[in-house]
Formats: sequence, structure tokens, C-alpha cells
Amino acid sequence: MTGPNQQAERVQIVDVAPRDGLQADPADLSTAQKVELIQRLVAAGHTRVEAASFVSPKAVPKMADGEAVMAGVPRTAGVSYSALVLNQRGVERAIEAGADEVCGVVVATETFSQANQRASVAESIQRWRAISETARAAGIRTSVTVSAVCGCPYEGRVDADRVLGIVAELAETQPDEVALADTIGVGVPTQVAALFEGAAQQAPGIVLRGHFHNTRNTALANIAAAIDTGVRVFDSSLGGVGGCPFAPRATGNVATEEVVYMVHEMGFDTGLDLDALIEASAWLEDQLGHGVPSLVAKAGGFPQPR
Ligand code: COA
Ligand code: ZN
Repeated sequence: MTGPNQQAERVQIVDVAPRDGLQADPADLSTAQKVELIQRLVAAGHTRVEAASFVSPKAVPKMADGEAVMAGVPRTAGVSYSALVLNQRGVERAIEAGADEVCGVVVATETFSQANQRASVAESIQRWRAISETARAAGIRTSVTVSAVCGCPYEGRVDADRVLGIVAELAETQPDEVALADTIGVGVPTQVAALFEGAAQQAPGIVLRGHFHNTRNTALANIAAAIDTGVRVFDSSLGGVGGCPFAPRATGNVATEEVVYMVHEMGFDTGLDLDALIEASAWLEDQLGHGVPSLVAKAGGFPQPR
């Protein structure tokens, strides 16, 4: 907790709105709108943004302009842009486009893995090994997300030991970070705490990151549970936009402004300006042409005395 002379402990937030947020939204933002979104995120204090994905444009048409987005982002000192990649072609495109970090994905279940990246879990771990070597050789950061860790849209419940086995295999590649993702927003705090405690044992010394969707309104509770286990890095998306084109009925990521509100009130520092985020969230609604799920965007931050 913060006292007068104590520095608040940091929670770091990666805004994934430009990628996870936009890839499944019904709206088609132009490259210029995506770049402006990223500018607004950086202006609000973000130092990590998931800016693009370099995947097949046939599989995810909305991310086809990754190169152009990366060419337009503000190159502010201390700001790092990550890009999602799933194969060798993707990592090469990401390096060429000037990504600071590549983020790979390994899905925890076979059916979803096939639907998402047309590969078995073992094959996608192999692909990640190659991606990671290429990225490391190019001197950029590597992170890998284990997806569907709390439940799968096709297979239902997911065995925690299966998830932890994948974490252990990925830890061998010594990524800068391993993320656990509740891709379809089914997880609950007890489950999330157990997964992160297990992951910390399987990946000693590797930073863990949480990625939660708010599909069943459990995302903030899950973040609080993960914080209790020591996790200090989370993905979220401005406004709570998002989804997954390959996960039926998946909805948005937890909203950045909701996470920021909660962790600030808990006494953590994020380096983010909540008012600027709320303003950016209203701007994003206008661009998308539809409302965003965030409640903090509607309610505002903590009321000031009047
Ligand atoms: N960038 C651009 N194009 C790519 C690509 C990349 N990284 N990887 C593959 N492609 C193209 C190929 O050129 C090929 O195009 P063609 O049909 O015109 O010849 C086509 O995609 C299929 O390529 P292939 O190597 O056979 O891959 P695949 O069919 O086994 O598909 C993935 C595997 C992973 C490339 C593809 O399923 C994909 O990109 N999925 C997107 C998943 C995603 O983004 N999910 C959401 C986030 S987790
Ligand atoms: Zn996601």
C-alpha cells in the first residue's frame, strides 16, 4: 500500500485493443484510425501496446495492414510495440516492420488449436520454438500466450495439468514473458489463482502475464486473484472491445479503464492517466460506430468532492 514516502508498486498494462480488440469487431477501422488509436493509448501513458498481428490476411482480414500500422506508430522512447505472430513468415514480417516484441500463441486444446492456427498443440509449440529463435536472433523481445487456459469453446473444461505442461515446455524457450489467457471468459478467481501458482513453479524466473476476457463478468475478479499470487502484468483493451474470430461467442477483453480504476484504488501505480483513457474510449466508440462494454467509461473515475 502507499504511504506518504512510499512509492506505489507497479502494475503494468499492455493495451491489446489495436489487435485483439479490433480483429473481431464488426467495424473496419482504416490504418489511419488504428494509428490514431495507438497514438491516443501512448498519450494516455501506455508503454506497451499490441499493435498488430502478422498472420494470414485471408484468415484475419482486419489485420492485413499490419506493416502500414507499424510504419505509422509514434516511436516514443520507452514505448514498446508487440505483434502477434504464429509462424516463420509472421515473425519475419514483424521484424521487418519494426516490432519491439513478438507474441506467439499456443492453444491449450487440440480442437481450438486446429481452428485457430491449423496446427496441433505440439506443432504450434514447435512453431513457437522457431519463432522465438528468429526473434531472439533479431534482438527483439519474445512472449508467448497459452490460450483457452480456463475453458475451450469446443472442448469445454480444460485440465490445469495440461496447461501447466504446456507452460513448462514453453519455459524451455526462455521467453521474456508467458501469458495465460482466458480467451472465452469462463474462468473464476480460485481457478485463476491455482493456474498462476502452478505456472510460477513451471516457469521459474519468467514474468507471467494475465489476459482475461470479460464474457461472463469475471475478468476483474480474476485479475484481483492473479495479483494476489504476485502477477503484475496484464493485457486489457481500451473500452473492453474484442473477441476472437475463431472462438464462437467470445466477447471483449477486460476494459483497460476498468483495470486501471481498480488497481489504482488498490494502491498500485500504472503510469496511466484514467481520464485520458476514458476520453480515448469515447473516441473509440465514435470510430467503431457502436458502444463499448466498459462501465468505467460510462461512470467515470472516482468522484471528486464538489
Ligand atoms: N503472413 C501473411 N500470409 C500468410 C502468413 C503470414 N504470417 N502465414 C500464412 N500466410 C498465407 C500463405 O501465404 C497462404 O496464402 P495462399 O493461400 O494465398 O497461398 C495461406 O496464408 C495459408 O498458408 P499456410 O502456410 O498453408 O498456413 P495454414 O493454412 O496452415 O494457416 C496460419 C496457418 C496460422 C498461417 C493461419 O491459420 C493464420 O494466419 N491464422 C490466423 C489465426 C489468428 O490470427 N488468430 C487470432 C489470434 S490468436
Ligand atoms: Zn484475447
